[in-house]
Amino acid sequence: MISSGLQLLILALAAGAAAGWAVATLRSSAGLGLALVAALAGTGLKIIGVVALWGHGWWFVGEKVIIGLPLTLVTAGWATVAAIRDARAGRPRSTPTRVALLAASYGAGADLLTQLLIGYPLTPAAGLAMIMMVLAATVISWVVLTRRADRRTISTVAAAGCLIMILVAAVPWPAAPTANAHSHGGHDHDHGPGAGDPPGDQVSVAELRTPASVAGRRVRITLEAAQQTVALPSGRTLEAWTYGSLPGPAIVAEQGDVIEVTLRNRDLTAGVTLHWHGYDVPNGEDGVPGVTQDAVRPGETFSYRFVAAQVGTYWYHTHQRSAGALRRGLFGTLVVHPRDRPRADVDLTLPFHSRGGIALLGATDTVRRQPVPTGRSVRLRLINTDQETRQFVVSGTDFRVAAIDGTDLAEPTPIRAELLRLPAGGRYDVTFTMPATPVRVGAVGFDSVGLILADPARPTAPADDPLQVTPSRTFDPLGYGSAAGAEPPPTGFTQERTVVLDRLPRWHDGGPALAYTMDGQVYPHVPATVVRRGDLVLFRIVNRGFETHPMHPHGHHVRVLRVNGRAPTGSPLWLDTFEVQPGEVWEVELRADNPGIWMDHCHNLEHATLGMMTHLVYEGVTSPYREGGTADNEPS
Ligand code: C2O
Ligand code: CU
Repeated sequence: MISSGLQLLILALAAGAAAGWAVATLRSSAGLGLALVAALAGTGLKIIGVVALWGHGWWFVGEKVIIGLPLTLVTAGWATVAAIRDARAGRPRSTPTRVALLAASYGAGADLLTQLLIGYPLTPAAGLAMIMMVLAATVISWVVLTRRADRRTISTVAAAGCLIMILVAAVPWPAAPTANAHSHGGHDHDHGPGAGDPPGDQVSVAELRTPASVAGRRVRITLEAAQQTVALPSGRTLEAWTYGSLPGPAIVAEQGDVIEVTLRNRDLTAGVTLHWHGYDVPNGEDGVPGVTQDAVRPGETFSYRFVAAQVGTYWYHTHQRSAGALRRGLFGTLVVHPRDRPRADVDLTLPFHSRGGIALLGATDTVRRQPVPTGRSVRLRLINTDQETRQFVVSGTDFRVAAIDGTDLAEPTPIRAELLRLPAGGRYDVTFTMPATPVRVGAVGFDSVGLILADPARPTAPADDPLQVTPSRTFDPLGYGSAAGAEPPPTGFTQERTVVLDRLPRWHDGGPALAYTMDGQVYPHVPATVVRRGDLVLFRIVNRGFETHPMHPHGHHVRVLRVNGRAPTGSPLWLDTFEVQPGEVWEVELRADNPGIWMDHCHNLEHATLGMMTHLVYEGVTSPYREGGTADNEPS
């Protein structure tokens, strides 16, 4: 967070210095000194700031260092020397000095634009273009000023110079060649089935399905997606899109069962799919329109089948135009119980969802009371189905965080009054033994919804309800539970991939947008990560923007190796959704053991829609599906 503030300060200083130099060009001698001092101070502070950021481990501020600093130093140095020489000679600003002052202004302006428009990585072409712009603007200024150096001319030239720079820079930089985006393993969406059968070592996602003959007890359910007016417990109604109810029907299975779901679309003209969030299903069951299937149009059906191999708390949602469709209600929960362990006496699945001014915990938009006798074991499965981080509070008891993202933590210890911060799409399982006094579950900022567990034999007045206090401490999964017996993190990786997240103006979806970028690019131009089965991949995800990005790889869980260089000291963390906050660097391990073409995206789905998506592609896997088309596939 400090680094984000520093980054903002650097931007402001660059803007201030650009203005200061420009003013120094125009002002009479009286104002000149002041403007000069301001410009110099701004420039100096900016340089200190950049060096501090760099020293802070922000190697991904390369453009500030490689282009910004030299441009600043050269132009500001020239202007300073010229101004001092004038002062020594006791003459008013000479024309060469004015040109130098303008050049310093262009230099600072170009630095600012580079940071705002190019970001990381800085391509040589973009860097060169910035240098050329400063040179061109300076030469033009010189030509004009040596002819007619009145004040009007100077302002016109300065304004024109700035305008040219802004115009040139605002033209979206052509996407650098996406080295492997289209050359990898035949993942070429333009080759439909008509392009002929793939050669022997290639496999289509359509074949990466669960065989119908797979052994196991069947859990069968049909979900009908439709528009629905939902009557909420508070008496309000909600125009929703649902899988039959809001949330959708809970799917509950035991480990080893075979889950068979038929999805029918009654009347959703936008189309619909089912994606099993956090469940590492075979690729063909993953529910991504245009990648693993066609969107299901009104009147159509699609059947999913997968073995319930992972235990824990998961959820499902549509992946077709998902930002809006999920918010409208196209989601539900999936819980798989272990076969060999007893369930908790009270096992509650609590998806949290908000839309407009309405929030739901489970299916309730009010504070619900549930009788739980003292001494019973309780497991609460918190799921954040929203697109932003939500903070949950469990008050009135000590509790353990038993699992995150479906995976049990090793030896969780009791904690009390700690905020549970769930990234968009994330899940926490909380366990405790019911105390004699009530326990309350709520989400910070949503006081109208909640759950109060209370012993029916000990009636409490509403005033006795545990207050929803906002704890000051936030639960830190990096230092929770036990590392004893954990498999040590691997040392050798067959692949490394660094992705820098940012927000930059880009051409996206047929128009200019303030897009969410990965390595400066937007989907589908972000290069895919190409792997072979058996690869061990080190992902390094960096956030140099100012917003949080809950990153979600499909089909795999990743193990957290380090966050800002700090390795987990407690239980190993295997996540499917991890929150990369501004300025953070996450290093995670991914084992390539589930062949397919997988989405890898920010689960703030608005960000995904605005470009923050890429693919993890196994060599040799092809897809007959493509975006758009008659099914109007739209995977974000
Ligand atoms: Cu829960 Cu690709 O998403
Ligand atoms: Cu995001």
